[in-house]
Amino acid sequence: MTESAQAPMLPRQILTGKARLAGVLGWPVSHSRSPVLHNYWLSRYGIDGAYVPLPVHPDNFEQAVRGLQAAGFRGANVTIPHKEAAYALTDDLDHSAQRAGAVNTLVFQPDGRIRGISTDGDGFVDSMKAEGLFPHTHATERKRALLLGAGGAARSVAAALQDQGLDVAVTNRTVERAEKLADALPGLDVVSWAEWEAQLGMYDVLVNTTSLGMEGGPDPMFRPNLKRAAHHLVVADIVYVPRLTPLLAEAEQQGLKTLGGLGMLLHQARLGFREWFGQDPEVDADLEAYVRATF
Ligand SMILES: NC(=O)c1ccc[n+]([C@@H]2O[C@H](COP(=O)([O-])OP(=O)(O)OC[C@H]3O[C@@H](n4cnc5c(N)ncnc54)[C@H](OP(=O)(O)O)[C@@H]3O)[C@@H](O)[C@H]2O)c1
Repeated sequence: MTESAQAPMLPRQILTGKARLAGVLGWPVSHSRSPVLHNYWLSRYGIDGAYVPLPVHPDNFEQAVRGLQAAGFRGANVTIPHKEAAYALTDDLDHSAQRAGAVNTLVFQPDGRIRGISTDGDGFVDSMKAEGLFPHTHATERKRALLLGAGGAARSVAAALQDQGLDVAVTNRTVERAEKLADALPGLDVVSWAEWEAQLGMYDVLVNTTSLGMEGGPDPMFRPNLKRAAHHLVVADIVYVPRLTPLLAEAEQQGLKTLGGLGMLLHQARLGFREWFGQDPEVDADLEAYVRATF
């Protein structure tokens, strides 16, 4: 809680008996910013609806999902530690969920089936595009991305970048995990954790998908050497607390373009909002400031 202030108040929406309902299932769930951003949009668009935090123990996950469905919810987001359980529970998996091996968005269909989507990777791509930082690919010259990390977020981001036509490589402290990721996503290269800084000149995009650099994480001061970067390298960090991670500060010092992680968080929420509440919500500076004020 460093950049904190109270989020400015928006008028609270009055709920009727026809209100549309959704929420986020997690254990714990109190850290989630999803209620803040969905309720901001509900208020901004004057929608008769609500989005609530749902603290659910892993033992009760399936029971809770079936209960929400029976109670008329439109669907839910799913966060740690339920993303794999949600993958196993869904009847229909979107392409994004199959590629990510996880589900973060559930949509309850009128016929009782549950659709599972993974919006993290597309949220990252959309946030790059919104800032005009996505590299243009040509048939003759494919662009290259290097991802630091091989966890759940890395898989979603790697799959989405591959789907956009980029050549993607990963490097991870634990090489076995990177190799497992390469098995799941054909075409993915694995680069040694000890050597990626020296090879940086080959890449157009660098993305930190580890928790390094995160406030309260394993190494908040993580500041790799970017001296070998090509001048056009875009450096992205999916960590969003702090806003300027040491990696991004180093990139700025080298004169490179940068992208912070909050945009991914905001953009990944849009698809669920559209499915549940019937409106395509906008990600803009007001929303970013509103959510940022809650950290
Ligand atoms: N912006 C967004 O919307 C968004 C969305 C999702 C996640 N995130 C953020 O992304 C980060 C990763 O999330 P995740 O779900 O992918 O976590 P995860 O599955 O637990 O993966 C963690 C990754 O961090 C690496 N790591 C952890 N400690 C390390 C250390 N001391 N040295 C080197 N590598 C280390 C791990 O490497 P090993 O395999 O070697 O342990 C692994 O690659 C978190 O900070 C999360 O908040 C942001």
